[in-house]
Amino acid sequence: MSQLSQRPDAPVVGQRHRHESAAAHVTGTALYTDDLAARLTGVLHAYPVQSTCAHGKILGLDTSAAQQVPGVIRVITAQDIPGVNDQGAKHDEPLLPVDEVMFFGQPVAWVLGEDLEAAKAGAKAVRVDYEPLDSLITIKDAIAAKSFHGIQPEIAKGDPQAAFAQATHVFEGDFEFAGQEHFYLETQNSLALVDESGQIMVHCSTQHPTETQDIVSHVLGIGAHEVTVQVLRMGGGFGGKEMQPHGYAALAALGAVLTGRPVRVRLDRNLDMTMTGKRHGFYATWKIGFDQGGKILALQAQLTADGGWSLDLSEPVLTRAMCHIDNSYWIPNIRVNGRVAKCHKTSQTAFRGFGGPQGMLVMEDILGRVAPQLGLEARELRRRNFYTEGQDTPYYQPVRHPERIDAAWQQVLDSADVARREAEIAQFNTNNHYSKRALAMTPVKFGISFNLTAFNQGGALVLVYKDGSVLVNHGGTEMGQGLHTKMLQVAATALGVPLSKVRIAPTRTDKVPNTSATAASSGSDLNGGAVKDACEQIQARLAAVAAGKLGVPAQDIRFAQGKITALGKRDELEWSEVVREAYMQRIQLSAAGYYRTEGLHWDLARMTGSPFKYFSYGVAASEVEVSSFDGSYVLRRVDIVHDVGDSLSPLVDLGQIEGGFVQGTGWLTLEDLRWDTSDGPGRGRVATQAASTYKIPSFSEMPEVFNVNLLDKAHEEGAVYGSKAVGEPPLMLAFSVREALRQAIAEFGASGRSVPLASPATPEAVFWAIDTVRNPGS
Ligand code: MTE
Ligand code: MOS
Repeated sequence: MSQLSQRPDAPVVGQRHRHESAAAHVTGTALYTDDLAARLTGVLHAYPVQSTCAHGKILGLDTSAAQQVPGVIRVITAQDIPGVNDQGAKHDEPLLPVDEVMFFGQPVAWVLGEDLEAAKAGAKAVRVDYEPLDSLITIKDAIAAKSFHGIQPEIAKGDPQAAFAQATHVFEGDFEFAGQEHFYLETQNSLALVDESGQIMVHCSTQHPTETQDIVSHVLGIGAHEVTVQVLRMGGGFGGKEMQPHGYAALAALGAVLTGRPVRVRLDRNLDMTMTGKRHGFYATWKIGFDQGGKILALQAQLTADGGWSLDLSEPVLTRAMCHIDNSYWIPNIRVNGRVAKCHKTSQTAFRGFGGPQGMLVMEDILGRVAPQLGLEARELRRRNFYTEGQDTPYYQPVRHPERIDAAWQQVLDSADVARREAEIAQFNTNNHYSKRALAMTPVKFGISFNLTAFNQGGALVLVYKDGSVLVNHGGTEMGQGLHTKMLQVAATALGVPLSKVRIAPTRTDKVPNTSATAASSGSDLNGGAVKDACEQIQARLAAVAAGKLGVPAQDIRFAQGKITALGKRDELEWSEVVREAYMQRIQLSAAGYYRTEGLHWDLARMTGSPFKYFSYGVAASEVEVSSFDGSYVLRRVDIVHDVGDSLSPLVDLGQIEGGFVQGTGWLTLEDLRWDTSDGPGRGRVATQAASTYKIPSFSEMPEVFNVNLLDKAHEEGAVYGSKAVGEPPLMLAFSVREALRQAIAEFGASGRSVPLASPATPEAVFWAIDTVRNPGS
């Protein structure tokens, strides 16, 4: 087998191909889970009965009136569950509550109807009586009540107390910041069918088909081999479909088993926003010490994640946050403590970056706030603290290639023409009283691999047919990120055939079993390794066949662009001809591939080890202009240099960087999740439950100038074809926008003052921050 990171001549990886479904996406012919339901007959529609209090005891559940509604086929309650009444991995999340509801909007029962209207009318007719119980809605309420769940990990290194004693500057503060709604365009969706043998087929919009299969089977009390989960594609997942789809899939499967008919669960936007988990908001307290030169000596922090009612993925999200509080900065002495607040809200979950953005936001907020007090430009303060060769993270992992942070930084300084623009900005600010501009630069360092070592494995099944065409199955799911495009390019490269010879099949648990979630940005690392392995097995067999035909040793055989040649020979064989010959010789033309990431170890109890295969780096420079009349602002220009190793697919990577950045900007500046915290009857209700009240980025929030470049000379040893993961890290480049806003706000007041800024930094928040800067002490 060739080395994992080495590229053959004329590889298909690295070519600029468009997303394999691009044409279908833009013409509307791409199908999603619910489109499959629309093509079947006899499908039942499911609609939930949602709780009307944040926390309450269920005194009675009366479904009799619903049964009388025309078109209602069945009402499903907890009593109907034949297996385990649990939709999570932590066994703290009943699929349907028996005696207690834990958040406003929680599904208490589901109604199956001949059509959606019947199901809705049925759900309205179900009567539930509650005895309201005390509820905790905000993270601060939960902290005050000491309401926590799950682990309370600690990262510790060096001696922060001694370092604070020696530090020239010590600052303390706290920071509460909001979560984020995924707002994937395709909401949660499942379609379940039972075949004549009792085999259950679940089409599901899930990033984690194997776990969906596991939960469906334990809810039904049957073996995993009786359940097949298929994912054609998702209209976005962003982490929101890593754990959250399982319950809806289980419900659809249960309905199909109970009625013998296909059942479709499709959440409309309101249901999705009121029932599903979101990015965790956090509350952080911190203390930081610097030496005279502005170098960080010590950091102490407490991170509390707002977990919601059940654990879901809150523990690994918290540990990833803690492992990323250093961002790109060397912190010799550190202690970080983490915990998960339990309160009566949706169960918060994975969201692009998986806690990493939250940990890093705390650090970037600290640096942005203290820079003026240190008398340093924020940009200079950041640069002085970058990791250098030989240093390690707070959890003792050596930081490989830290020089790439500097390289990307320098590349942005040059390509964004920062020095010249800074002078222009200063001039603009002198001339304008009511508008101010600022440019900020922030770095990203993001660890790639699942923290939990066991998840770092992937599988594939590659089939070569007699005519030489190739069908690739792999364990990853397509959510728009371009994984399938990359896997096509990997297979074509590994086999030495043109891209047109290769197709990808929908992801299915009966083709590739026991898969990990397509998450942690590791989809192409893990599945790419497995696809490459399968292709190389087949290629080795074909090389022996070709060697026999050409009369050379097998190691002299070369495969490229559908031609098979031998070193030093003129003869050329066609790929399809050799495949045909192999078949005639009874040589197996399919192979199961497997990959596991080597060299990882992680001690969760002590929070030490080397959990990441490598780090991805990036740098962004953002310029904003802020108006003091109403706090409104425009993003004038963004320049990004991002490290994707040797790109597998440059157009796909550019799309991921642009999209990730914009999604991060949405989180930090626009998207304002609100819950009803009043004591009225709506207490605990998600107040922002549609696009009308929850603003996501749109065309008008795009940067006026948006330059994205890939870092030069970034080949990554030991990763598939020298490439790096790209899915999540660019989201965190958006810190530069928030920091630019902070710096522009500072321009309205006297210099040298710390500027606290709310997150999201909506125009309203910016307005009040300007007000504070202009009237300090008022
Ligand atoms: N890009 C699109 N278009 N849609 C998505 O849902 N999810 C992101 C990222 N990019 C997402 C996306 C998240 S959260 C992750 S973890 C990665 O894609 C997952 O895919 P990968 O491992 O193949 O990068
Ligand atoms: Mo991504 S949050 O790891 O699905």
